[in-house]
Amino acid sequence: MNENSKISVNKDISIAQTLPSYFYTSEDIFIKTIDNIFKKSWQFVTHKKLIKKKIYPFFFMKDLIDDPYILISENNLKILSNVCTHRAALLCLDESNSSKIKCNYHGRVFNLEGQIIKHYGFEGVKNFPSSTDNLIKIEHFNWKNFIFCSKESNINIKSFFKDIEKRLPNYNFENLSFNSEVSETYCVDVHWALYCENYLEGFHVPFVHKGLNDDINYSNYETITLDDAVLQIAKDKNDKIYAHYYWIFPNLMLNFYDWGLSMNIISPLNKNKTKIKFLSFPKIGMEQPKDIPSGINVVENEDQKIVQSVNKGIQSSNYSSGRYSVKHEKGVHYFHRLISKYLK
Ligand code: FES
Ligand SMILES: [Fe+2]
Repeated sequence: MNENSKISVNKDISIAQTLPSYFYTSEDIFIKTIDNIFKKSWQFVTHKKLIKKKIYPFFFMKDLIDDPYILISENNLKILSNVCTHRAALLCLDESNSSKIKCNYHGRVFNLEGQIIKHYGFEGVKNFPSSTDNLIKIEHFNWKNFIFCSKESNINIKSFFKDIEKRLPNYNFENLSFNSEVSETYCVDVHWALYCENYLEGFHVPFVHKGLNDDINYSNYETITLDDAVLQIAKDKNDKIYAHYYWIFPNLMLNFYDWGLSMNIISPLNKNKTKIKFLSFPKIGMEQPKDIPSGINVVENEDQKIVQSVNKGIQSSNYSSGRYSVKHEKGVHYFHRLISKYLK
């Protein structure tokens, strides 16, 4: 196999080979991944409680795709392009309570539905204005005040959230608050997919995470594949649920603990650099545990060390691909299958 071969992973895990190393090392494949996977993904915008004004500008995958949008939180939520339909000036730079969107370049004005309502100097222009002069709207999904958007995703995010609600019927999602003090952003020298596949197996827990391994009963660790998503359930030594680790393709992780939710967003910066955001949403009155041997920050440092070593190893001319553990690497295998499906 070489870079020009199609990436394909056998659906039978017992005979399948892992992704070829050139998936991680090829610049062309990295670019294709951005175009075919990330540009078509669902991305987290913000939590509704963090929106203070009617107009909230943001960028879709700021570090990589950097596509400007505006979230309008008047009546029904909507998401509009933040680029003027005349000659592409950015429209809103700051949050505001304005009831119109005005372009500072040549004065074009849009309402909060994105329709052009005023323009200057366009006398004599035929078939103007038309619907293409309005701002484009993109899809959004508001799940319990967590807002996500997508330009053209085939991923069924609604079924993902239905699964969470079904399995965690008594979880007080509405009672989550944001804690910026324990939220962290890391920049790690690793291919984004290596970071995700490490997350998608508990196989390494007894070897890499001594503190976490003391808390959970690894023999009860469960991995369930969902539609374009994976759920891992860890139980403690008393067989009580320790965490639900949900991941949706390609880069979003929602980890539900007794104390609240930790959301991880994995953003590729280039093929050897990835930004990882940890957002902490504790239940009101509770806190994310910190600096204990099984704490999220401790486990994260252990993970980063090991995935950085993999990132070096994957470049070796002595490695091309490996085999999956049928028992422990169902989640990784499914992730690789999704990459081969959506990369096309
Ligand atoms: S770019 Fe907006 S009016 Fe010209
Ligand atoms: Fe880990």
